[in-house]
Amino acid sequence: MAQNMYDDLGEILLDAAAIEKRVKELGQEIAKAYEGKELVVVGILKGAVVFYADLIRALPIPLTLDFMAISSYGAATSSSGVVRINKDLDRDIVGKHVLLVEDIIDTGLTLSYLRETLLARGAASLGICALLDKAARRKTDIQGDYIGFTIPDAFVVGYGLDYNEKYRNLPDIGVLKPSIYQD
Ligand code: IMP
Ligand code: MG
Repeated sequence: MAQNMYDDLGEILLDAAAIEKRVKELGQEIAKAYEGKELVVVGILKGAVVFYADLIRALPIPLTLDFMAISSYGAATSSSGVVRINKDLDRDIVGKHVLLVEDIIDTGLTLSYLRETLLARGAASLGICALLDKAARRKTDIQGDYIGFTIPDAFVVGYGLDYNEKYRNLPDIGVLKPSIYQD
């Protein structure tokens, strides 16, 4: 990994200004949809934290925050979409309108599992907001209700997204150079 993280990027896909503009638009759209409802915004750790922090400040309506941390059960079983919950919600969500906030929808298996799990706990509704959508890679019928950008099938980092836990703090979203994978 280079000292300057930008040296590891082949290109910048979305710069901070474009992201900021889109997050504000999403905030307006979501605020309209949830006005007058009891909203719990659930962030999926760690990838969503940067997006989440910006999104909640773009929502001019009352809401509460909660978080989940999850990991997949490993390569052998990842196609099942079963994930391990490493940190669960602090409060119960019975009768609440839940908005799940994720960094990216890739195969869709993670969100599909979380949607079923949280609906089974009695949420009044379960919405999905993801900053990025790699629609071409979907393996389930899951669709985001609020999507920032649909992107091509490339491995991206920054604005919360990582490669081996690095690059999450980049303000822009970029495509990693292939040479970084080969190291
Ligand atoms: P899914 O269950 O395949 O939809 O998995 C989504 C998760 O995969 C995201 O929360 C990310 O952690 C990770 N992921 C998928 N694509 C990328 C990428 O291009 N960069 C970084 N993380 C990614
Ligand atoms: Mg993630």
